[in-house]
Amino acid sequence: MIPVNEPLIGKKELQYVSECLKTGWISSAGKFIEEFEQRWADYCGMKYGIAVSNGTTALQVAVGCLNLKLGDEVIMPTFTIISCALAVVYNSAKPVLVDAEPRTWTMDTTQIEEKITKKTKAIMPVHIYGHPCNMEPIWGLAKKYGLSVIEDAAEAHGAEYKTKVHSSQFTVHSKVEYEWRKCGSLGDISCFSFYANKIITTGEGGMVLTNNEEYAEKARSLRNLCFKKERRFYHTELGNNFRFTNLQAAIGLGQLERIEELIEKKRWLGKMYTERLKDTEGLRLPVEESWAKNVYWMYGVVSNEDTGMEAKEFAGRLREQGIDTRPFFLGMHEQPVFHQMGLFKNEHYPVAERIARQGLYLPSGLTLTEKDIDTVTEAVRKIVRKKEV
Ligand SMILES: Cc1ncc(COP(=O)(O)O)c(C=O)c1O
Repeated sequence: MIPVNEPLIGKKELQYVSECLKTGWISSAGKFIEEFEQRWADYCGMKYGIAVSNGTTALQVAVGCLNLKLGDEVIMPTFTIISCALAVVYNSAKPVLVDAEPRTWTMDTTQIEEKITKKTKAIMPVHIYGHPCNMEPIWGLAKKYGLSVIEDAAEAHGAEYKTKVHSSQFTVHSKVEYEWRKCGSLGDISCFSFYANKIITTGEGGMVLTNNEEYAEKARSLRNLCFKKERRFYHTELGNNFRFTNLQAAIGLGQLERIEELIEKKRWLGKMYTERLKDTEGLRLPVEESWAKNVYWMYGVVSNEDTGMEAKEFAGRLREQGIDTRPFFLGMHEQPVFHQMGLFKNEHYPVAERIARQGLYLPSGLTLTEKDIDTVTEAVRKIVRKKEV
């Protein structure tokens, strides 16, 4: 079976983890944690890093920093993992959805403004499968309506967004220049996951990044039961134990030392797949917009409806040939658990609905070889072609 993913763990990770075991620093104190937090924040271009137990809790802590009140609203894509909506619901607020954009599968930013109400407090863009969300329109709306931006960069380690820098103040003619910024530095608060299938992993793990000292302080408190510095077992707020361990940080530091190599491997994989599949009729492939550096965290494909084949059947036929895949997200508006809560009933988002049924991602692990990619792409081409006959 060619697996959908396999982490690449090296000698450094083993060395650092052994150090934890030998010295007994195995819990949520120890020198590796702060080092990992700072180095990840530096890598992404943010000031503070607060490591937490996973990406889901990172989102919960990030939303928690905004002090939302019952009924406040956060606008997010329907096409995402449930962690995004949970973070909002667990903070007593209401997720409000927009559809996916058909090329990049990230949130359709043209639909955001019509969803803004007096209760809207934040927008939560999610970079999907390694491709950044288009941030300029989101920043514009956040500024216009005084909203916070919580960026979910769980799937976009090292991905970049090209943004305009206006350098007009010293020249007669306004001149627009551009700079590339890393995903994770594009919101007021950003979130990462380091689950085993992510580009760098700590087994389980996550991180909140921000440039705002107050948010950083609040995030540290929320992850550690809101203990008070001045009086430990005295609480004025509800927190959680979302702590990250020195063992996880040890793995993360080892991974971080080779991040460029891991990203290069993902981009190579993306290129290999696209070269081999680009002429396959009936199949939509990942894109890389001119303003984006896609890290191809997972290589998603969407088959056309006129092939008469949904992703479920496509996945089954690939599995018969020893190829593992995963389905695309099912939109938040199609989740029974939210309908039971009175959310999103009778809402429809046609792009998300179509890609949820027609989309899957192919093996995208860091250990894949060119031969594996040939095997996968040959199988894909045969299946899609056969169906058309
Ligand atoms: C976009 C996105 N956000 C959040 C998460 C949650 O991360 P975790 O699995 O570490 O809780 C994931 C997980 O894959 C994700 O894909």
